[in-house]
Amino acid sequence: MNTNRLSMIMEKALSNQMNKEIHASHIFLSYGIWADDKGYQGIANFLYRHAQEERNHSIKFMEYILNRGGKPKVEAIPAPPNDPESLTDCFDGVFKHEVDNTTAIYKIVDLSLEEKDWATWNFMQWFVQEQIEEETLAQNLIDKLKIAGGDRATDESLFTLDKTLSEAPNEVPLAQEATGYNP
Ligand code: FEO
Repeated sequence: MNTNRLSMIMEKALSNQMNKEIHASHIFLSYGIWADDKGYQGIANFLYRHAQEERNHSIKFMEYILNRGGKPKVEAIPAPPNDPESLTDCFDGVFKHEVDNTTAIYKIVDLSLEEKDWATWNFMQWFVQEQIEEETLAQNLIDKLKIAGGDRATDESLFTLDKTLSEAPNEVPLAQEATGYNP
């Protein structure tokens, strides 16, 4: 008896996303190594933690496919892009990769709607929310660097930024949690 509750197209789309999350993990790992090598230990730690978060996302897709009776397939992961040329380039890259990932997540949501696969639609809502968080996090990185002076930041302000990011959480409060007391 066929116990696979996913269509073949959906199983493939979710499996591709499992691999895409690992690709994202490798990109942030490579950015972290770049930052570490440049002496930005705090920024590197932040990126390493983020890489781990992407790996966790991949595992969520893996578990979901298996739980629905499907079988994910681990594919060859493309090499990460070249090292960033500056901190601005690095943080812009983080934002761009998050937006790319959001686009991929939305495509799966579209497919679930098309197929009336409500279980997958429901599962994907966690990722829709997570992407809001991750895009905001990336925007915050860009803003913090801008305030520090961008590519013309002084060593002192970069030292402070690096220190801040070494302790910064990899999560941001969501707009839907804000109140007048806690904007
Ligand atoms: Fe797994 Fe950054 O999205």
